[in-house]
Amino acid sequence: MSSFQIIVGSMLGGSEYVAEACEEVLIGYGHQVELHFQPDLAQISNKNQTWLICTSTHGAGDYPDNIQAFATDIENTDLDLSSVKLLTIAIGDSNYDTFCYAGKNINKLLLSKGCIELLPLITLDMNEDIDPEERSQAWLSENQDHL
Ligand SMILES: Cc1cc2nc3c(=O)[nH]c(=O)nc-3n(C[C@H](O)[C@H](O)[C@H](O)COP(=O)(O)O)c2cc1C
Repeated sequence: MSSFQIIVGSMLGGSEYVAEACEEVLIGYGHQVELHFQPDLAQISNKNQTWLICTSTHGAGDYPDNIQAFATDIENTDLDLSSVKLLTIAIGDSNYDTFCYAGKNINKLLLSKGCIELLPLITLDMNEDIDPEERSQAWLSENQDHL
């Protein structure tokens, strides 16, 4: 059993539903899960945790407002994040040149701070006719041996 911190970046609420869908699957596999809709680095455990980043992109490749401070705090932190395992679900729309930049950028940033990537980041393209909750749940289920 692992302990998950799901860190959500969302403006319009879609990524929050994706995060809750992930929570449901992870709890079903017996993991412990905490959800952070207003992520605050100081409040998020980083000792032997798996951080699941679940964020959309807004503006022109920007972070959603609610995760901006978290990203800045990560940029400036001296914390040792080498015991944090990382999963990233990046939600966006391929009509934008800056497709999924928020997810891609925070993933890069966290890896640069020592986080260990459990699985390569996935992108969910809302320009395709997909159900992002279903896709995320399937991704976790297919990879449950790695979690
Ligand atoms: C004003 C606006 C700007 C957006 N900019 C981007 C972008 O730069 N890159 C991208 O991949 N998607 C972009 N999107 C698409 C959103 O990421 C997508 O609609 C996502 O599902 C929204 O998730 P949320 O409901 O969690 O905020 C943008 C959407 C809006 C409304």
